[in-house]
Amino acid sequence: IHNVIFESSQEASILVAREIANLIQRKNELNEPCVLGLATGSSPIKVYEELVRMHKEEGLSFANVVTFNLDEYYPMDKNDMQSYYHFMHEHLFHHVDIPSENINIPDGQVSAEELQQYCIDYEMKIISYGGLDFQLLGIGRTGHIGFNEPGSHVNSGTRSITLDHITRVDAASSFLGIDNVPRKAITMGIGTVRNAKRIVLLGWGISKAGIIKKTIEGKVSSQVPATYLQEHDNTTFVLDTEASSELT
Ligand code: F6R
Repeated sequence: IHNVIFESSQEASILVAREIANLIQRKNELNEPCVLGLATGSSPIKVYEELVRMHKEEGLSFANVVTFNLDEYYPMDKNDMQSYYHFMHEHLFHHVDIPSENINIPDGQVSAEELQQYCIDYEMKIISYGGLDFQLLGIGRTGHIGFNEPGSHVNSGTRSITLDHITRVDAASSFLGIDNVPRKAITMGIGTVRNAKRIVLLGWGISKAGIIKKTIEGKVSSQVPATYLQEHDNTTFVLDTEASSELT
């Protein structure tokens, strides 16, 4: 892995959006789908903003884009304001020309009986496209990527997971209290993410400095699932000065 450090997340996000746009256009010229793995949360918002701007002002088309989101709370109604389904439509999908049948987000309403098969099917669908061309990631304070909390296996696939207490604390304000934060989620696995041909992890702000240090400089361990990215040969950590402030 290598890191690039920017003074502002704004400037960094524009460059990441440009890389994604170039990939979309390259795939378009080849008449191939561009398969993107996408994240929610605060980290990627400016990247999506810039992609929307490029669509509106520069004619960037998403007609050949296929997306797979990393995760969704479980259980979660897609119409709920807190759903990742809602987030993605609000920040990206409503504003670009992606065909709705090309959008894949784990379904937080699938029944408990169907959940396991649903996760296997999600994984198989990614594989059917030849895997992810590009995976965008944020990182949680537990070291999670997607919702792969500490203890996640290096080869894990899409599955349901119990959220860490710290993750639920961090989500509490947007749910108006921790009691309203779901206890579970559906997430792509570490194995799913590691199969991506290209990975970019975004880290902004001082609250991420400690976990960024552990992830980049610590030893690879299931206790900090993001450390598994050290073993991926095409991963870049895109950081601002605050998030990189504890790196040696
Ligand atoms: C979201 C996701 C999570 C977040 C992480 C950081 O789809 O997979 O791993 O990326 O929790 O969240 P923010 O960006 O809000 O700090």
